[in-house]
Amino acid sequence: MAQQATAQIGVTGLAVMGRNLARNLARNGFTVAVHNRSPERTRSLVAEHGDEGTFVPSESLADFVASLERPRAVIVMVKAGAPTDAVIDELVPLLEEGDIVVDAGNAHFADTRRREEALREHGLHFVGTGVSGGEEGALRGPSIMPGGSAESYAKLGPIFEKIAAQVDGIPCCRHIGPDGAGHFVKMVHNGIEYADMQLIAEAYDLLRAGLSASPAEIAEIFREWNTGELESFLIEITADVLAHTDAATGRAFVDVVLDQAEQKGTGRWTVQSALDLGIPITGIAEATFARSLSGHAGQREAARRAFGDAGEKWQAEDRETFVEDVRRALLSSKIVAYAQGFDHIRAGSREYDWDIDLGGTATIWRGGCIIRARFLDRIREAYDAQPELPTLLVAPYFADAVSDGVPSWRRVVVDAARAGVPTPAFSSSLAYFDGLRAERLPAALIQGLRDNFGAHTYHRVDRPGSFHTLWAGDRAEVQG
Ligand code: 6PG
Repeated sequence: MAQQATAQIGVTGLAVMGRNLARNLARNGFTVAVHNRSPERTRSLVAEHGDEGTFVPSESLADFVASLERPRAVIVMVKAGAPTDAVIDELVPLLEEGDIVVDAGNAHFADTRRREEALREHGLHFVGTGVSGGEEGALRGPSIMPGGSAESYAKLGPIFEKIAAQVDGIPCCRHIGPDGAGHFVKMVHNGIEYADMQLIAEAYDLLRAGLSASPAEIAEIFREWNTGELESFLIEITADVLAHTDAATGRAFVDVVLDQAEQKGTGRWTVQSALDLGIPITGIAEATFARSLSGHAGQREAARRAFGDAGEKWQAEDRETFVEDVRRALLSSKIVAYAQGFDHIRAGSREYDWDIDLGGTATIWRGGCIIRARFLDRIREAYDAQPELPTLLVAPYFADAVSDGVPSWRRVVVDAARAGVPTPAFSSSLAYFDGLRAERLPAALIQGLRDNFGAHTYHRVDRPGSFHTLWAGDRAEVQG
């Protein structure tokens, strides 16, 4: 029996994220076509949640497509990579000019650019869309970062803006820019998420070492922090996780979890792209490498045997001062991570001609997503006031926070190094800050060395042009 075209939007791929997104759409009054390769998932969605709104289930992709009003909008919610390509290949012959295919998974932006170009040749819109917020967010209101054409946003915008998280009446969704812009921004979001989590983990480790405090006591400190400038989803759930007790052993949950952090790869993509663009996102890179280090169990075991596991025994002199030092160091390092992430977005936007609005991006990260935080409002204000801000670090609010935090930041990094507590993200963020503010950098010596061994030339501080010194000859300087 031919399907009637009644659905305003469709979701194919009904694993947890797809299922919750479909439910969110239905709960917001949209008629949602649903499809999954194995029909059991479609049936169970309708059986369990059919009363939440209007679902139009189909067991074949052809029926699913036929159930959609034109221009059709199909959200593909399958695994990134080959499975996404396979679904797109199946969909394309069923679609007609002007129809829209949305990839709402965590695809690499280069794949999105390739797919967008390929579908454009068929007269179709391909919209790579970042969606953040995990399972709960997908159901109750995620942060949505759609790329693709302005034309596709005319259809998708009203739908996505309705199902997104809302902060102060503003939806956490906006059109990011053409082709891969949405997935690029989502990638950087995840990179910042990696840095944020690494910094939180280092703060926890420092508090544990310096105060000999239990995870439950440290949970209280995070709870307290969550009432101030650091207020954020990740700080909130840190308190939750640290306060949790393992039912099987009665021990702190965090002590029974294997200390090897995994990743699906978006942090790695962020670092790879930043290397290509020449943007020093050191906080995100350290966070990504820290996860890798944690996973090298054999090397860790060998090093532990060879060197023992720590430096001096550490007892912070004054509890209150130490906790405040760690809080300020965390805030300053976090500002560095966000500053670097936004630099990265700006560089990507320039490279690919996306014209991404940085203040607008901060706006849609205020709710729904994993890195939602109070200070995203300050980031939005900073970029709205000065779109060409050289770095977020110099915007008044952040400059004040960092200036206030510097003495604490240094104390914490020094004490940690002395005690042998690894703080790769805290210390590299401080080094980045010191690098940016330095009057002179030893980069001058590197230029000299490059010229010495490879005649790579250098510029001078006192006159224009490039120069080379005849190192193996009479050391005269010549034009390079
Ligand atoms: C989000 C998250 C999500 C991601 C996880 C896992 O914004 O909702 O970023 O997209 O899947 O955070 O990432 P890793 O496995 O790489 O830690």
